[in-house]
Amino acid sequence: MTSISLPKLSPLANPSSAFEELNPKPRLLMGPGPINADPRVLKAMSSQLLGQFDPQFRGFMRETMALYRQFFETKNDWTLVLDGTARSAIEMVMMSAIEPNDKVLVLSFGRFGQLLDEIAKRSGANVKVLEAPWGTVFDLAQIEAAIKSFNPKLVAVCQGDTSTTMLQPLAGLGEICHRYGALLQVDATASCGGTPLPVDAWAIDAVTAGLQKCLAGPSGAAPITLNDNFAKVIYRRRHLEEGLQTKDYAAGAGSRIASNYMDMAMIIDYWSDGALNHHTEATTMLYGARECARIYVQEGLALAQARHSKASQAVVAGVQGMNLKVYGDLKNKMPNVTGIYIPDGVNGDKVRSALLNDFNIEIGTSFGQLHGKVWRIGAMGYNARPDCVMNTLAALEIVLAAEGHKFTRGAGVDAAYQTYR
Ligand SMILES: Cc1ncc(COP(=O)(O)O)c(C=O)c1O
Repeated sequence: MTSISLPKLSPLANPSSAFEELNPKPRLLMGPGPINADPRVLKAMSSQLLGQFDPQFRGFMRETMALYRQFFETKNDWTLVLDGTARSAIEMVMMSAIEPNDKVLVLSFGRFGQLLDEIAKRSGANVKVLEAPWGTVFDLAQIEAAIKSFNPKLVAVCQGDTSTTMLQPLAGLGEICHRYGALLQVDATASCGGTPLPVDAWAIDAVTAGLQKCLAGPSGAAPITLNDNFAKVIYRRRHLEEGLQTKDYAAGAGSRIASNYMDMAMIIDYWSDGALNHHTEATTMLYGARECARIYVQEGLALAQARHSKASQAVVAGVQGMNLKVYGDLKNKMPNVTGIYIPDGVNGDKVRSALLNDFNIEIGTSFGQLHGKVWRIGAMGYNARPDCVMNTLAALEIVLAAEGHKFTRGAGVDAAYQTYR
C-alpha cells in the first residue's frame, strides 16, 4: 500500500477552554461573506424545535416557500430550502439533473465557475468550460456561439463570482439557452438580494443560493428555485428509498441519482403535500431561512437592492479617495463586494490583521491568481449600512496611513460620506 500522509492536526492549546461559555468577539464582518446575521434571524433561530411532520412546522415550510417565491420573483412551485451550505444546493441540482455523459457548458469567470466545472464533472457530465479572464464577464453573443457549437443539455453560470467580484448580466441568457434546447442553472449565492434576479422574467430554469451574504443570515441553508421543466428532468429519475416504497410505487425512467442526500427527486417529495420522509429537517435553519426572506421581502426588493448599490458606491468612492485602485471591470462589478488592489509597498495581510485585531473588522483577500493581490470588502445584508461602511473605511484609512501608504487623509471617508448624504 502506498504511504499516505494525513494532514497535521494540533491538539487544543488549552483543553479546559472547551468548557468555557462561547463568547465570540464583537467582529464586524465586512469580507466577501459570511457577514453578521440580522439579530431578528438569530432570534428566530433560538425558537423551540418542532417535529418535521408537525402540521405547524409544515405550515412554516409552506410559508418559507411562499417568501422565497417573492424573493426570487417567481411562480415556481419548487422553491424550497435545502439543509446544507450553498454548494450543496449547486451539487444537488446538478447531480439530480445530469445523467452520465450529458453535456454541460460551464461559463467560468472566477473560482466559483471552477467549482461549477468540478461539480459538473463529479456528476459525470461531459463538460466544456468557456472562460472569461478574471475581472471580466461574458457578452451574450460569445455564450450563444458556444452553446450553438457544443449543444449542451445544461448551461451553468454564477451570477456573481465572489472571487473576482464580477457580475454576469443574465437578462436574455435564458431565452438563448432555450432556443438551443438547453436548460440554464444559475449560482446566485453571492449576488441574490444585492442585485435584481427576476427568475421568471429572465427565464432561468434553476437558481441556487445561500443565506450568508445579502440575505443577512448564517450559512447552512440553501434556497433553491426550479421551474417545472427542470423539476421534471429531475423527477424522471425518481427512485424512492426502499424503506419508503409502497405497493403502487414505480421507479422513474431515468437513471437513479448517485447520492441519497443529494437526491432532489426525494427532496421534492419531502416538500410536497405527500411529505415523504427523507432527512430530519434542520428545523433551526428553516426558522433562520424563513426570517431572512421575511426581513428582505418586508423591506422590499427594490429598496434592499438600492441599499446594496449605495453601499457599493460609498465603498468605491472611499477607497478611490484613499488612492487605491478598484479591481476589475467596474461596469460589471457586484454591488455587494468590492475588490481593491493592495498597493505596492503595503503588506496586505498586515493590514487585514490590524483591522481585525485593532478594530474588530474582518475584510478578505481572494483566491488563486488574486490571493494576496487584492482585498475584498463586502457590504451586504445586515451590514449594507452607512455605519458599517463608514467605520470600515475609517479604520482602513488609519491602518493604511500607519503602513506608509501615500494619500490625502480624510479624502476617502469624506467621499464615501458624501455618497451617503
Ligand atoms: C458564488 C459562490 N458560490 C458558491 C459558494 C459556496 O457557498 P458555501 O460556502 O455556502 O457552500 C460561494 C461562497 O462564498 C460563492 O461566493
